[in-house]
Amino acid sequence: MSIFKTKPIASLIAETEGKQGLKKALGPFDLTMLGIGCIIGTGIFVLTGVAAADLTGPALVLSFIFSGLACCFAALCYAEFASMIPVAGSAYTYGYAGLGEIWGWIIGWDLILEYAVGIATVAIGWSGYAVNLLNNMGIHLPKAIVSSPMEGGVINIPAMLIIGLIAWLLISGVRNTSGVNGVIVIIKVAVVLLFIVLAVWHVKPGNWTPFMPFGFKGVISGAAVVFFSYIGFDAVSTAAEETRNPQKDMPKGIIYSLLICTVLYIAVSAILTGIVKYTAYQTTAGHNAPVAYALDLIGIHWGAALVSVGAICGITSVCLVLMYGQSRIFFAMARDGLIPKVLGGVSKKHQTPAVSTIIVASVCALTAGFFPISIVSELVSIGTLIAFIIVCAGTIVLRYKRKDLKRAFKAPFFPVTPILGIFSCAYLITGLQPATWIRFVVWFILGIIVYCAYSYKHSALRKDRVPESGEKV
Ligand code: ALA
Repeated sequence: MSIFKTKPIASLIAETEGKQGLKKALGPFDLTMLGIGCIIGTGIFVLTGVAAADLTGPALVLSFIFSGLACCFAALCYAEFASMIPVAGSAYTYGYAGLGEIWGWIIGWDLILEYAVGIATVAIGWSGYAVNLLNNMGIHLPKAIVSSPMEGGVINIPAMLIIGLIAWLLISGVRNTSGVNGVIVIIKVAVVLLFIVLAVWHVKPGNWTPFMPFGFKGVISGAAVVFFSYIGFDAVSTAAEETRNPQKDMPKGIIYSLLICTVLYIAVSAILTGIVKYTAYQTTAGHNAPVAYALDLIGIHWGAALVSVGAICGITSVCLVLMYGQSRIFFAMARDGLIPKVLGGVSKKHQTPAVSTIIVASVCALTAGFFPISIVSELVSIGTLIAFIIVCAGTIVLRYKRKDLKRAFKAPFFPVTPILGIFSCAYLITGLQPATWIRFVVWFILGIIVYCAYSYKHSALRKDRVPESGEKV
């Protein structure tokens, strides 16, 4: 039976409707807040320093523009999928329903890289800010316990601790509810704006020359690294069940949240390299907590402390959302029989996916404890970029194959937008280190082996527990 069999959209909607009957209360504003809640985190607060110091110099702003453009193309395709298949899920569900099982599997396997390794990346960023804040308070933890072996330490304990804490919160039933998320988004956006308002007066245009000290190649590598900052707008789709009018509102949430963050990022990146020379970020504090460090360098210590506290809160919420999202994807894949049922199991006591959360947290904690942010963030970027390429290609395929599906939102300038999405994401991949490509290929081959050895045989769709797609919606 074909590995391209698609999951019927009617059954997906029925699965959604069969669930708890959540109140449909969210509108475009809440969804935009949800998107921003997942987007602003380690990328802008930490990776800007790494990228400016070692890859881009003042051209960091160009990297943010390139990366933002690639994300906008992908987001428009994503929005089309979300309006066509308005169920809670992710690119995995869209791939399974639109393109067929094998594509769903490949996207799902990629998303594990996006979410699980993303949690490790975000936790390392959290650790950087926490350690910087403690340093400023006069508490100096030994390097051996706050950085990975490749950075001259032994183990990054704060990063492991935050993952443990988040896992515990999730297992006890804590969710990033719309109210809590709203408060955290306000804090995050406020500290980003605070940085802009405090720092913009200290910009010295001389710091922007030389503009591209590492050449154009550096700018593309920088774009691939800061791409991580934009990840998260796809999380808007997880709220489909709670949205009043998912077909119309989800595309709005996805696009507005991405646009707002793009504008903020461009401003922050231009200012960061304008107030001090990019070489200032070639230090430990510049790598770990660049936004706060920059304020320290220009003498605004109270601003640096506030930014650090805001960054710590904001990054914690991204970690929470990613871990929640990961268990959700495992749940969907286990329900479809593609991974063992135990990974999608729900604990009787708390009604939360305890087993998968513990497994994910353990793997993420080990990754965060022993690897530097530069390696893990690139892995997340490549996994997500490949998922975006499939989503863009999927939009084109489905416009021809499934003309019957109702689309409340259509990506404009078809087929130019998805084609530009595919090429720009592929171009960003060329900016990643060759070692990252190799790690990704190994991950991909592992995924195909798991699919052939397990998922192919256990798929619920293949066992014909669910009829083949082809229904009129
Ligand atoms: N975009 C999110 C972050 O930067 C994942 O933390």
